[in-house]
Amino acid sequence: MKELSVGILGVGRYSPERRLTNRDLEQMVDTSDEWIVTRTGIRERRIAAPHEATSDLACAAAVRALDAAGVAAEEVDLIIVATITPDMFFPSTACLVQDRLGARNAAAFDVSAACSGFIYALASASGMIAAGMYRNALVIGAECLSRVTDYSDRNTCILFGDGAGAAVLGPVPAGRGFRSFVLGADGSGGELLKLPGGGSRIPASAESVAQRLHFMKMNGREVFKFAVRVMGNAAEEALHKAGLTKEDIDLLIPHQANIRIIQSALERLGLPEEKCVVNVDRYGNISAASIPVALAEAVEDGRVREGDRLVLVGFGGGLTWGASVLIW
Ligand code: ACO
Repeated sequence: MKELSVGILGVGRYSPERRLTNRDLEQMVDTSDEWIVTRTGIRERRIAAPHEATSDLACAAAVRALDAAGVAAEEVDLIIVATITPDMFFPSTACLVQDRLGARNAAAFDVSAACSGFIYALASASGMIAAGMYRNALVIGAECLSRVTDYSDRNTCILFGDGAGAAVLGPVPAGRGFRSFVLGADGSGGELLKLPGGGSRIPASAESVAQRLHFMKMNGREVFKFAVRVMGNAAEEALHKAGLTKEDIDLLIPHQANIRIIQSALERLGLPEEKCVVNVDRYGNISAASIPVALAEAVEDGRVREGDRLVLVGFGGGLTWGASVLIW
């Protein structure tokens, strides 16, 4: 049996209205616009309204992606939501999205791989379609990181925001679509970035809340070093697997965590800035939503043309990393 070529049929994104600027953060913690911009490149982030949760953001992005792909909700066979901020433990956010969209023929589950989650979810959906299990899949990266961010901790609160991006996957002509995936994990680094409370290890209690264990904790410096190393490695490995070289890249779509991490990846790959999508200044780090939002913006801006060779690459908590080469 010949494997199908699988690609992206349409993309969509959604960002909440409210902006949290560096000036706003200056009023909340001991920081400055100048520190944040020079160390991270971030100027503002979007924050979900009180009535919005991750599935709301996910649905808004999904509706746009389905529309762009010309695929009806009933034609979706599979929904995967990558998130570390699900509406609740269960049902999965993917099931909530399935119900809301009326995608009654779709299987649905969530993927937890932090900022690498969207690439993990793409690889899963693409593999299932290529194997003939499903035809159309909706892959969503969606986060409300503001709900797990400690706005009294200047080490983390300046970094994160909320948003969602979605892609509809399906069969594409031979030679197009995903050419390779690289997924990796190093659980020994799990301590560097985590949300310790509220699970089965430290169940929610008045004490766990008082200790602020329901907020993200991060060793920024170590995560930074890890990120710089794996972004270049994963992108190069994905190119190699696809039979391409750095010179073949038309557009790099990296996880948007910190402009300095993106710049180091560009240097390593020998790419000029014009070949890279950057929106970290406007959204901050939106974890699993980061890559699909950047991809959707690039498509809207006319930066992605038919036949272009794209490299998606990300890293995150777990620790995890992932990269993919895709011919548009
Ligand atoms: N404002 C002012 N000063 C600050 C702030 C702030 N917001 N935050 C930290 N500082 C101080 C520190 O206390 C430190 O002071 P000290 O030297 O007196 O101790 C000083 O600034 C320098 O701190 P560093 O940690 O060395 O700063 P660095 O240049 O490493 O930048 C940052 C910190 C931005 C967090 C960087 O390490 C980073 O981007 N790391 C990667 C983080 C990341 O990508 N995380 C997300 C992973 S994705 C996921 O899965 C969710």
